Amino acid sequence: MSIVTRSPRASARMSANLRCEKLASRKASILLRATFSDRSLRRTIQAMRFPTYLTAALGLLVVGTSCRAPADEAALVDAPADVEAHIDSLLAQMTLQEKVDMIHASSSFTSGGVERLGIPEIVMSDGPHGVRHEHGRDWEKVVGAEDASTYLPVGTALAATWNKDLGYEFGRVLGRETAYRGKDVILGPGINIIRDPLNGRNFEYLTEDPYLNARMAVGYVKGVQDQGVAVSVKHYIANSLEYERKEVNVEMDERTFREIYLPGFKAAVQEGGALTVMAAYNRFRGDWCAQSEFLLDEVLKGELGFEGLVMSDWSAVNDTLEAVQAGLDIEMGTELGQEGGKADYDAFYMADSAIELVESGTVAEEVIDDKVRRILRVMHAVHKFTGDRPQGAYNTPEHQAAARKIADESIVLLKNDGLLPLRREGLKTVAVIGANANRKHAGGGGSSQVKAYYEITALQGLRDLLGDDVEVTYAPGYSVAPDAVVDAALIREATDAAAAADAVVYVGGLIHGYTDEWNDNAYDAEFLDKPDMMLPFGQDELILAVLAANPNTVIALQSGGPVDMRAWEPAAKAIVQAWYGGMDGGAALAAVLLGDVNPSGKLPMTFPAKLEDSPAHALASYPDENLLIEHTEGLFVGYRYFDSYDVEPAFPFGHGLSFTSFEYSDLTLTEGEVGVEVRLRVTNTGPVAGAEVVQVYVSDDESSLPRPVKELKEFSRVELAPGASTDLTLVLGDEAFSYYDPDQSGWVLEPGIFTIHVGGSSRDIRAHGQVEL
Ligand code: BGC
Repeated sequence: MSIVTRSPRASARMSANLRCEKLASRKASILLRATFSDRSLRRTIQAMRFPTYLTAALGLLVVGTSCRAPADEAALVDAPADVEAHIDSLLAQMTLQEKVDMIHASSSFTSGGVERLGIPEIVMSDGPHGVRHEHGRDWEKVVGAEDASTYLPVGTALAATWNKDLGYEFGRVLGRETAYRGKDVILGPGINIIRDPLNGRNFEYLTEDPYLNARMAVGYVKGVQDQGVAVSVKHYIANSLEYERKEVNVEMDERTFREIYLPGFKAAVQEGGALTVMAAYNRFRGDWCAQSEFLLDEVLKGELGFEGLVMSDWSAVNDTLEAVQAGLDIEMGTELGQEGGKADYDAFYMADSAIELVESGTVAEEVIDDKVRRILRVMHAVHKFTGDRPQGAYNTPEHQAAARKIADESIVLLKNDGLLPLRREGLKTVAVIGANANRKHAGGGGSSQVKAYYEITALQGLRDLLGDDVEVTYAPGYSVAPDAVVDAALIREATDAAAAADAVVYVGGLIHGYTDEWNDNAYDAEFLDKPDMMLPFGQDELILAVLAANPNTVIALQSGGPVDMRAWEPAAKAIVQAWYGGMDGGAALAAVLLGDVNPSGKLPMTFPAKLEDSPAHALASYPDENLLIEHTEGLFVGYRYFDSYDVEPAFPFGHGLSFTSFEYSDLTLTEGEVGVEVRLRVTNTGPVAGAEVVQVYVSDDESSLPRPVKELKEFSRVELAPGASTDLTLVLGDEAFSYYDPDQSGWVLEPGIFTIHVGGSSRDIRAHGQVEL
């Protein structure tokens, strides 16, 4: 189907030099909007006058760090008449020492307060998919704390839902639990672009695509911050590998920075109103991110109009003068000045040495004042001075239901030759194979670890759902250990079980760590990258043997991203990508396999057939001892590369099958008030209810600068009963057609013909049309 629409709006756009300013004009007062979004606070603000507030605030602020005042208690507390006036007044009373106490950590997860003036510490917690267990002041686990929490599916799983509402819901659960636990800031979302399949932390991030990244990040940010607590959007910027993360230098051209890596942060700040941003460990164009004037001052605070605070990643600062001048507001981390195992907070870069810089006249005190002002603004926004933050909630059935829904919608059916869903009729024996089937994942992965309130494994999920009438046998097939290889005895046990069963479910993939210790990391984990894209522990041989023993074997994989499936993919009738699905991940997987949930997840990143096909390896290289990460692939990240260079992926970006089928029809493209309106009808033509993620990609048919052959610019998830249709309208604004022109230092909408592709994946385009702009 091909529609050619010659749009009369062309002339209006002919001059189109779509500059940053246009977008920047929307940014105004984002922080204040966030600040005043709470109704009760707004009311009080209108009613109060400054002196009353000050007296009251001084009485209140000794409440300490946990800010869990219930609503009736909060009513006793006066609110500031004017936030900036309050901040001016506090600044006027503070000594230099007190100001500097606020711009660095005071324990592993707090930044300093000023007790004399009733300014509490800011309390933070990881993030990004659950509130982490209590660390005490210096990393010691707090014994006996009630700190098991809702363990949400990981970032790539959330992104695989392509459901903007679930982005918000995810954030809402996290925000409510953050508030309940007395934290002010949750250290997430992690939105680094997934560039290289080897990155150990891809599972914490969302996607390879800047548009999907931005849309999911905005929902997350709003969901959290509507609960009266702050996010910390991390890691700004281009921390896309763990290898020597504190040393590597990332080089990329300006266009790649603007078009691929910045949009997620820009949207989180400008649309989401993110209150804090975390500067990454790595260097960017030679400067450490936490000390980069370009990143922090010029782009984030300048162009993007960010009025919140920038904190460093933990121990990501390396020089006082640079950090202070670049626009870093809080230095976090506890590796400095360790004495007898305890951190010496005065030895931080932004502690005593910052005072010396001011006293010697090298740095003006106003530079410190600006940091303190930003910190106090964020404290206002998270209700530190009023105590009227909503109390939040913890481990509620509602939170568990949200975790389950996200898990349900995240599962991607990669391949299905009719094996799924498993038919219950006549099903007497199911063999579950694979050590991952019986493995819990919450506790591993590094700082994103969660002490889960509970975690349903795949084995448990299947047993629960199949009930007593079906015999579920289990054989691990491989062992999880650093040096584990093919184990003939375990394979024999697995193939025996498979041969004797009516259906076989293999659950394998990667792990976060060998044990539940956070520093015992492996594969999908912080601090290290994966050695290659291969399945570890001899799983390829095991899978081949199990498929030979029983061809009716479903292969389900838990991992943050792609693995090399070439050894067995042709022999597998059904392959399911289950990610790390949170506390109900096993239940969700079982429900999909048995057809109680119709899969609707779509890949948020391309699955290459092999590592060498990935653009970070085909056009660039993994850093060596020179510690340089050069983005020679430029814009051609993920499907932008595979499609433009005509490389066949194992499974393309946006791909995901369903137990039903969808028909796309009646595509029309028209000029609307705010952009090109893409209208189409989607019909569920199959036998069961299901959901489809309709994806809109744009190609610039001819452009002065090279562009990827197509780019995702909008999407929408629709749920349809069998036989039902829906008419969708998706709107493409100017941004959807523009590129960043480094020579003009701005976004350009170059007149010409654009092709609009609509489909169920980047490679399953069902309809297309053209517009002339
Ligand atoms: C990680 C951050 C995390 C911080 C605090 C760092 O190692 O990079 O993502 O928020 O630790 O745990």
